[in-house]
Amino acid sequence: MNSFPHYKTLAVDQREIRQNYSTLVSCVVPRPIAFVTTLSPSGVVNLAPFSFFNGVGGNPPAIMFSPCNNRAGQPKDTLVNLRHLGEFVVNIVPHAIAKEMNQASFEYPPEISELEKCGFTPLASERVKPPRVAESPVHLECRLVQIVPVGVGPLAANICIGEVLCFHVAEGYLQPDGTVDIAKLDPVARLGGELYSLARERFSLPRPG
Ligand SMILES: Cc1cc2nc3c(=O)[nH]c(=O)nc-3n(C[C@H](O)[C@H](O)[C@H](O)COP(=O)(O)O)c2cc1C
Repeated sequence: MNSFPHYKTLAVDQREIRQNYSTLVSCVVPRPIAFVTTLSPSGVVNLAPFSFFNGVGGNPPAIMFSPCNNRAGQPKDTLVNLRHLGEFVVNIVPHAIAKEMNQASFEYPPEISELEKCGFTPLASERVKPPRVAESPVHLECRLVQIVPVGVGPLAANICIGEVLCFHVAEGYLQPDGTVDIAKLDPVARLGGELYSLARERFSLPRPG
């Protein structure tokens, strides 16, 4: 007979916001990172990482990411910018720029561009106004479809759903079957706390049938 563990039940309504957050982000893992460029109403390029991020559909290719309210319950610059101009770029984060990506998560005021501050290079986009990040080998130019708020106050989610208008893949990274070479991409993923992981150990499983 199997022996299963005893489970500790953690009722969300009896815990601190921060405790629930810590448990959530350490069990929904690893999370990919969207390094998102947006434009402020006055034209400042904003850049910030978001690991509440995933692909959610194929036709059209669709993604979601969630800039949560900050600890004071206020919207982050990315969300303010998206509400104003519903366009953004998701830049994929390779291991080589992990430190700079982390630096860009510092809460700079809206008039400061994290892109310049953290030493990244802007590349003009084709279909949207916010630029791409040249240090990233894959860019997804997106149009905002909908913002879905979940909850109110500190850390409440604002799920931003986007339609991908075009992909840019660095030369040599795209494979004949349309996939991006994972070894070359070497993407960083986020775990709980300050931990990150790499997708360097892989295995393949053919689909049944
Ligand atoms: C790897 C990483 C992932 C992050 N993921 C999120 C996230 O999914 N949602 C969120 O609200 N903040 C996330 N943050 C924090 C934001 O990047 C941070 O609050 C940033 O200052 C927001 O920038 P903005 O105010 O320019 O939009 C993350 C930070 C790091 C380093």
